[in-house]
Amino acid sequence: MSKPPQKRLYIKTYGCQMNVYDSERMADVLRPLGYALTEAPDDADLVVLNTCHIREKAAEKVYSELGRIKRIKEIRAEAGQETQIAVAGCVAQAEGEEIMRRAPVVDLVIGPQSYHRLPELIARTSRQLGERLAADFDPEDKFDRLPEERAVQGYSAFLTVQEGCDKFCTFCVVPYTRGAEFSRSPETVEAEARRLAEKGVREVTLLGQNVNAYEGGLAALVRRLARIEGLDRIRYTTSHPRDMDEDLIAAHGELEALMPYLHLPVQAGSDKVLKAMNRGHSAEHYLRLVERIRAARPDIALSGDFIVGFPGESDADFENTLEVVREARYASAFSFKYSRRPGTPAASMPGQVPEELKAERLQRLQALLEEQRRAFNAAMAGRIVQVLFERAGRNPGQVAGRSPYLQAVHAEAPQHLIGRIVPVRIASAGSNSLAGAVELEAA
Ligand code: 5AD
Ligand code: SF4
Repeated sequence: MSKPPQKRLYIKTYGCQMNVYDSERMADVLRPLGYALTEAPDDADLVVLNTCHIREKAAEKVYSELGRIKRIKEIRAEAGQETQIAVAGCVAQAEGEEIMRRAPVVDLVIGPQSYHRLPELIARTSRQLGERLAADFDPEDKFDRLPEERAVQGYSAFLTVQEGCDKFCTFCVVPYTRGAEFSRSPETVEAEARRLAEKGVREVTLLGQNVNAYEGGLAALVRRLARIEGLDRIRYTTSHPRDMDEDLIAAHGELEALMPYLHLPVQAGSDKVLKAMNRGHSAEHYLRLVERIRAARPDIALSGDFIVGFPGESDADFENTLEVVREARYASAFSFKYSRRPGTPAASMPGQVPEELKAERLQRLQALLEEQRRAFNAAMAGRIVQVLFERAGRNPGQVAGRSPYLQAVHAEAPQHLIGRIVPVRIASAGSNSLAGAVELEAA
């Protein structure tokens, strides 16, 4: 009846939601070995940094964090405790050898397709048996060999259905760090979703770098998952305009479980810039697409990503971006200054834009996006929205959750409503959240 010895695992997650999913799965893979999660790096036997490579700033964070972890390792060593350090994620995939050279304190470098091998690799490094770099590309293997068992917290969960990207936007590292597009089979996705629902999960967000390029059609997958008892809300992210097919658009008008929220990045509004980015669509194509989606689901909350200061972007090009934003009307958005990523085609393009100009454009774009977000939120005042309560709120007597449009909602309500979907009448709307009162006691 001996249990494996208790060990502590600290995982720090950077970057996108797929990394959040991967971090949870790394914890699942290590749990049978006796690893329990801790929030404190200084009492961890194993520290995993799950890293992001998308922009320079994100990638740099790894090395400064490694400096801090190294000191923790030294202090623990003085107390006779061993600490293993693993770097996972997209920086591991892209810069594995450099990490080992620059940070000898790292015991293991492991890319996103190798997480199922963590137990074996950890055991080997602790016996100093060599292999310190695992960065192969075989997503199929990974999903087949991760444990079926998932620890879930709360009522909303991520579920990776697709990984990788074949689009090769000229600014982006993803095709190099996450590899070619790969879709999990509908059967394994459904099985994972059913297990989540059995554990009380009521909302899943299907993840993929190009989730709407899901093989066999994302709409068919969503329809399949919408039949699962207890799974009341389905979301998906991130989508590419080129893969937004008629079936998926129609599904937004037909399926109650499919939430009225769509993250559909356009990146820029000038056709010249879109071409240089290799996006494969024009601004007009994007705007007509948004029109068709709104025809199917008029209240949809549109979200997007933007890059300002892509090489060659002129003032007039940037104005085109603002025009697209004005016409498309966003409920929320993410916007970034172009960051030069070594090895991508855009890094060596002429016409790199000075930092100050990028900063100025970003500020103007964000002011417009913020105005739109406030307007979208303000339009909720007085309306009743269905809120999935997920946790206790900021103040006592409050609970908090999300509207169908992914807005954070706070309400005065009893804690037993956590885990339920409840109508809330919105009384006030701010830029980041809504507040209201439960309209009826839910059945
Ligand atoms: N510079 C700035 N932003 C980038 N993104 C991707 N690559 C870069 C880059 N080199 C942004 C895009 C993408 C989001 C995830 O990150 O907007 O949609
Ligand atoms: Fe990167 Fe473009 Fe692929 Fe998105 S579609 S992951 S931005 S290459």
